[in-house]
Amino acid sequence: MPGISSLFRSGRFALPAALFAAAMFIRGPAAGQPARVAGKAAGPVFETSDRCFACHNGLSAASGEDISIGFDWSATMMANSARDPYWQAGVRRETLDHPTHRSAIEGECSICHMPMTRYESRVAGQEGKVFAHTKFDPGDPADRLAADGVSCTLCHQISKEKLGVRESFGGRFVIAEGSNGLRTSFGPYQVDAGRTRIMSSSSGFRPAQSTHIQQSEVCASCHTLYTHSFDASGKVIGEFPEQMPYLEWLHSKYRHSHSCQSCHMPPVKSPAPMSAVLGELREDVSVHSFPGGNFFMQRLLNRYRNELGVTATPAQLDRAALRTREHLRTEAARLVIEKAELRAGRLEAEIRIENLGGHKLPTAYPSRRVWLHLVVRDRSQRVVFESGALTAQGAIQGNDNDADAHRFEPHYTEIRASDQVQIYEAIMGDPAGRPTTGLLTAVRYLKDNRLLPQGFDKRTASPDIAVHGGAAEDLDFLAGGDRLRISVAVAGADGPFQIEAELLYQPIAHRWAANLRAYQAEEPQRFVRYFEAMAPASAALLASAARATPGPGGP
Ligand code: HEC
Ligand code: HEC
Ligand code: HEC
Ligand code: HEC
Ligand code: HEC
Repeated sequence: MPGISSLFRSGRFALPAALFAAAMFIRGPAAGQPARVAGKAAGPVFETSDRCFACHNGLSAASGEDISIGFDWSATMMANSARDPYWQAGVRRETLDHPTHRSAIEGECSICHMPMTRYESRVAGQEGKVFAHTKFDPGDPADRLAADGVSCTLCHQISKEKLGVRESFGGRFVIAEGSNGLRTSFGPYQVDAGRTRIMSSSSGFRPAQSTHIQQSEVCASCHTLYTHSFDASGKVIGEFPEQMPYLEWLHSKYRHSHSCQSCHMPPVKSPAPMSAVLGELREDVSVHSFPGGNFFMQRLLNRYRNELGVTATPAQLDRAALRTREHLRTEAARLVIEKAELRAGRLEAEIRIENLGGHKLPTAYPSRRVWLHLVVRDRSQRVVFESGALTAQGAIQGNDNDADAHRFEPHYTEIRASDQVQIYEAIMGDPAGRPTTGLLTAVRYLKDNRLLPQGFDKRTASPDIAVHGGAAEDLDFLAGGDRLRISVAVAGADGPFQIEAELLYQPIAHRWAANLRAYQAEEPQRFVRYFEAMAPASAALLASAARATPGPGGP
């Protein structure tokens, strides 16, 4: 029995489950299992991920790389969606801003971040709750499901019903009914009867082949989010497109070539097993690493692991944060300084920025931002111009919005002064047209110049994914990226000059953290403390380039 020994190597929660699984393997269903009845499934709708680890950890690729599904998943943002202290702070803030809607807000915010507990509450006829579950008491089954975030049995039970239509957005996917006393676990492969029995009898979940799990629409259900906007009296006054990566993708060329999964669940290059017990070598096994952009929160979860009840190990989170940074550095963007020359005492340069991802850059949660950090040096390496430096507080030097909550940087076609910073970002506006970071206060975007993906025609984009502000009219802000000019006075300094450009990314913009400071409640205060401690390392590099002007001593 090749698989059984590897069961015992497979991790944290593995031993009891492994013994259990091995017992099942030898003897078949044991007493104490939920009763199986014909027709619909009888047992609980969801299980926590530790029930799957026994067989889906302890996996390696032919290269020797560890591809354990449970380990990789544990350190992702989805596995930590309920522990996430920024999310908890955000939910608290919204309930304080709109107190008459407190319970509806907790219900809404739990749909995707605590999806299993929330689903079970709804089945029991109740609204989903958030703060009733954030103690994560391991003795309470609802808290256990809450802590497990977006977990195995959630994604793998999403059925193909309604996928891709608006009805399924906002986390309103349909969970499959199950059959013959078993729940279903959809996957891309055909699994033979023997292996199907091994998994079913030990977990209560039957592997079932269905290609819908490989389609972007599975992800779109949670990654398309419209929120309701409330006015000061609590009246619903509109709907706001808060996170639109799927609709952005659908308007790009990637809809024809790359699913969300193909970029966010990278395939293993050679045949690999997907189960440590009797796993066959399979083509195109996908790694459950879900690299995105939020390296900062992965590090924060690691640093404050005890306070936050994090279960992924330090090694797993370190590896995940490194992977996320690598993903940002290699897959997100390209930067080219197309020319740099001196004209009438000014250094004139042209910069081209390309978005390599399958949606806007940045996309999704509106606290994300990408910006250009520019430095010009003279022949003795002295800095004669700088725009966009990151401060120790995690702010961008010269950015109006970081200095003053009521102002923000426009989109630029040319940078001429050090207090002009090109920031690719979404700025939300309240009903009075002022910038806000309140998700349920926002009614429209005052600025959205996030870099467009290839194939995205801004003129035909629907209002939900439109470009707002100066970028809408900028003739070289187009599908695939942006071009801008730099023109800075260097008269009085000695050339040749060197221009250095960096494209930086920050998941949590300074203003978003700073605005939480006013909320006198545990979660916002805790998060602000974390943010301030880690702010100097809150940004990551996407791309960089340098070029010198021709001249004496220059090229
Ligand atoms: C339809 C699903 C869905 C609902 C409902 C939802 N979220 Fe989220 N939320 C997400 C996704 C997906 C992300 C991650 C996007 C990204 O990384 O850019 C996210 C990210 C966040 C983040 C950033 C977390 C981080 O670590 O950077 C905060 C804060 C947040 N959500 C708050 C809320 C609040 C408050 C509510 C309720 C008003 C809410 N969410 C409701 C799907 C949802
Ligand atoms: C966010 C949704 C999501 C979560 C959470 C998730 N999976 Fe998956 N899983 C998928 C998708 C999508 C695929 C198919 C990927 C493809 O082929 O494009 C997949 C594929 C698989 C496969 C087939 C082998 C492979 O890797 O391609 C197994 C086995 C599996 N998942 C088990 C698990 C287990 C166990 C967990 C929890 C530890 C888990 N999954 C968590 C979405 C998810
Ligand atoms: C006792 C071992 C065992 C346990 C426990 C187990 N599985 Fe599996 N699983 C397997 C085997 C064996 C396969 C098929 C492997 C093969 O065909 O190469 C499989 C396949 C899968 C697939 C792929 C299905 C397909 O059609 O592509 C998914 C998804 C999956 N498991 C999810 C889960 C989830 C979720 C859990 C926890 C609730 C779980 N498994 C628990 C042994 C197990
Ligand atoms: C049940 C809802 C749900 C489903 C289904 C879902 N996600 Fe997520 N996803 C989330 C939430 C919630 C977060 C953010 C958690 C946080 O930051 O606190 C997230 C975060 C992510 C991130 C990390 C973003 C970052 O900032 O680093 C990636 C990447 C991602 N999801 C990809 C996918 C893909 C690919 C699929 C489809 C296979 C998928 N998701 C399906 C809810 C979901
Ligand atoms: C061509 C590859 C590609 C495709 C296709 C793709 N993405 Fe991404 N995605 C990226 C890259 C690169 C990043 C990191 C840069 C960034 O944050 O945008 C990313 C980041 C993200 C993030 C984190 C954004 C943030 O900054 O918080 C989410 C959420 C996400 N993608 C969801 C999706 C979803 C949902 C789909 C499918 C509709 C999808 N992606 C399709 C490449 C891709």
